[in-house]
Amino acid sequence: MLHEPIPNLKKLVEPDRVHRLAYTDPEIFELEIKNIFEKIWVYCGHESQVKKPGDYQTLTIGRQPMVMIRGKDMKVRVLYNRCPHRGVELCGALKGNAGEALTCSYHSWRFHLDGKIESIPLMKGYDGTRMNVDNPDCSMRAAARVDSYRGFVFASLSPDGPPLPEFLGEAKIAFDDMCDRAPEGEVEVVPYCHRVIQHSNWKFFMENQLDALHPSVTHQSTGVAAAWVEREIKQKTGEAPPLYYHYLSAFTMSFDKWDSVQTLNYPRGHGILKGYMGLRPDDPDTNAYVAKMYEAYGKEKAEKFLSRDIHHVLVYPYLSVQSPLQQIRVLRPIAPNKTLSEIWHFRLKGAPEAIYRRSLWYYNLVNSPATMINADDLENWTKGQWGLESSGMDWVSFHRDHGRDQENADGSIYSNSGTSEAVMRSQFKAWTEYLAGDK
Ligand code: FES
Ligand SMILES: [Fe+2]
Repeated sequence: MLHEPIPNLKKLVEPDRVHRLAYTDPEIFELEIKNIFEKIWVYCGHESQVKKPGDYQTLTIGRQPMVMIRGKDMKVRVLYNRCPHRGVELCGALKGNAGEALTCSYHSWRFHLDGKIESIPLMKGYDGTRMNVDNPDCSMRAAARVDSYRGFVFASLSPDGPPLPEFLGEAKIAFDDMCDRAPEGEVEVVPYCHRVIQHSNWKFFMENQLDALHPSVTHQSTGVAAAWVEREIKQKTGEAPPLYYHYLSAFTMSFDKWDSVQTLNYPRGHGILKGYMGLRPDDPDTNAYVAKMYEAYGKEKAEKFLSRDIHHVLVYPYLSVQSPLQQIRVLRPIAPNKTLSEIWHFRLKGAPEAIYRRSLWYYNLVNSPATMINADDLENWTKGQWGLESSGMDWVSFHRDHGRDQENADGSIYSNSGTSEAVMRSQFKAWTEYLAGDK
């Protein structure tokens, strides 16, 4: 623990290094929950997760148990998942349908799907008290703000702060890129996700997503094995190997190649890793999909959508979007050394089934906790957490390419090398501002 009252953030964050306590200290973590996660716009889910009235999905925002639920008026709301009577959780499952109303399992208070009280058994017991159906304290409380962008629902527990489009800023492209790749301009959630508990601070994940130096080291064994198989298929059949081998072999690109990939880092901590994975093999499935895109948008627009130079978009501090393959990873921090990650993927509406299969392969081969890729990363982050919890050394180094970034007038920082630690420096700049209450 720090020996002086926190937050003395200046002592923790320097332009080129960060004190290990930023990853380990429980008081810092509490401040993150209060000043970041329970204030900013947090991703709740996709509108297609709650298609019908009564459909709900439970989630946490910071430490708050919430429920995203569709009302009879078809509006999607985000409510505190807590009975106004004596606190019992109202929706007990991860997802489901509440039917006509939400009913508390303890004393059967019932709530309309918009959270308003519907009925209380033996209401006469409240005669003469201040509890009555007109008292808002009898109804479920709603998140202060709810908004959506292209079907992706966000909520903020604070009435103050920037509106959602401003918060997302440059990172809006993640959702545009995902939806624009659908001939119908929309995506639909695949209703089950992987849930993984990471035994590490949430910042390890966020730093790792745009860390272009690590893939060819951390994922070498998987990448090299996939490249061998690719070569063998080519030699034996003369045919191009299936695209999904490329998902793995791409990790073993040379350092120089990774270094040539650019990162764009924005003032709110959001970031974009450029570099296109080359998802346009000349095969019948891809060609059928491209034809559908041309039909929907015209050739010029469709080509613009299909050739966007994006690999990864980060919505700081909790969302990683791989829009070309319709994958989203959401972090829900639990403790300084414990983070829940949800790994979701989506279908492009109007695209051939084979294109969905392609994103499913990526989901299962790269992002699933059962694959070597995700497992390699998880191991690094756990070992990193152990190291930072030790007293071996106090500082975490972000010196790579410090002083050589392109700093723009709008506060964004463009790295001049893919492996620059500008990503982490930019994230910590935003982090310091959030914790100091400046954002
Ligand atoms: S706690 Fe919900 S009805 Fe009593
Ligand atoms: Fe990785």
